Amino acid sequence: MKGLILSGGTGTRLRPITYTSAKQLVPVANKPILFYAIEAIRDANITDIGIIIGDTGEEVKLAVGDGSKWGVNITYIPQEAPLGLAHAVKIAHDFIKDDDFVMYLGDNLIKDGINGLVEEFKQTNCNCQILLSHVKEPQHFGVAELSDGKVVCLVEKPKEPKSDLALVGVYMFDKSIFEAVNVIKPSRRNELEITDAIQYLIDKRYVVHPHIIDGWWKDTGRLEDLLEANRIMLKLIERRIDGDVDDISQVLGKVVVEEGAVIKESTIRGPAIIGHSTKIINSYIGPFTSVHDSVLIKSSEIEHSIILADCVINDIGSRMEDTLLGRNVKVYRSNTKPKAYRLMVGDNSEIEVI
Ligand code: TTP
Repeated sequence: MKGLILSGGTGTRLRPITYTSAKQLVPVANKPILFYAIEAIRDANITDIGIIIGDTGEEVKLAVGDGSKWGVNITYIPQEAPLGLAHAVKIAHDFIKDDDFVMYLGDNLIKDGINGLVEEFKQTNCNCQILLSHVKEPQHFGVAELSDGKVVCLVEKPKEPKSDLALVGVYMFDKSIFEAVNVIKPSRRNELEITDAIQYLIDKRYVVHPHIIDGWWKDTGRLEDLLEANRIMLKLIERRIDGDVDDISQVLGKVVVEEGAVIKESTIRGPAIIGHSTKIINSYIGPFTSVHDSVLIKSSEIEHSIILADCVINDIGSRMEDTLLGRNVKVYRSNTKPKAYRLMVGDNSEIEVI
């Protein structure tokens, strides 16, 4: 069996972060989301993994390499444009050949892994296994309609959903999917839809087996989902203090302080993670905060946020929360008169002031 991870796409919903970086490389608990996908597939004993890459391909290659750090072999498959999930399957045919495979969307996270699900796929001997999850707003997802436990119909983002069962971003296929992706036509948004390809399998009486998952799963395409993913993954970390913490500071609960990090006159209340060479001075870092490498946080309070590498946050006055800061962002108090907000912010950014 092989693995196929989709790490192309445009990531419009995560702009401006995705203007300069792949959304699959945004860290959750200081680890890129994509790495969780590689680990989940590796843990299901699959070592031949193809990664679909788009405009951000070079950055993905640089971060992942040949896969040897996970003990897997990575093959990169360039996609000329984000022409749909089924298009990604189509261009992966040469890599997959006639093997069974698991397709994993590179911006999805499944807390409990996929080990049991891969086993179930093998045992049921079906042509395709889809994972479903009950969701609150099914109109934003691919939705499945079941009858007597069988999948009858799949619709991409229906206006009037017939069920609350959303397609989770992990699928298992045998070679019959290649017949489907070569027959279906692009949708109105000009993408080859995986829902149409699976609907083709259903219509041609191939066996499509649904599995309703009850564990936590997230598509991290939007900021609020990323923050939730960060919350869930930080709850799983073990306390480890490898950096320097002075006697005045308090580091409470599940906190990781990486080597080279310095904590001075500060309180860190876990779950939280502080990256290599980061300095926290006279500050409060509250629960569910991930601070990446080489960040300086001085005289400030931050909670429930993701701060990427090389940021500086200095004396900001009010507490910062529910925030995602990209790399090398500076937020600081100004002493210049007249007193005013002075901003240099990229397109599609969002700033909430008090
Ligand atoms: P989506 O989140 O559905 O699409 P997107 O990345 O274009 O994001 P947005 O809707 O915010 O513009 O894609 C799911 C995953 O599949 C994601 O990791 C990107 C990847 N993908 C590809 O690799 N190729 C594609 O053609 C598409 C559509 C997505």
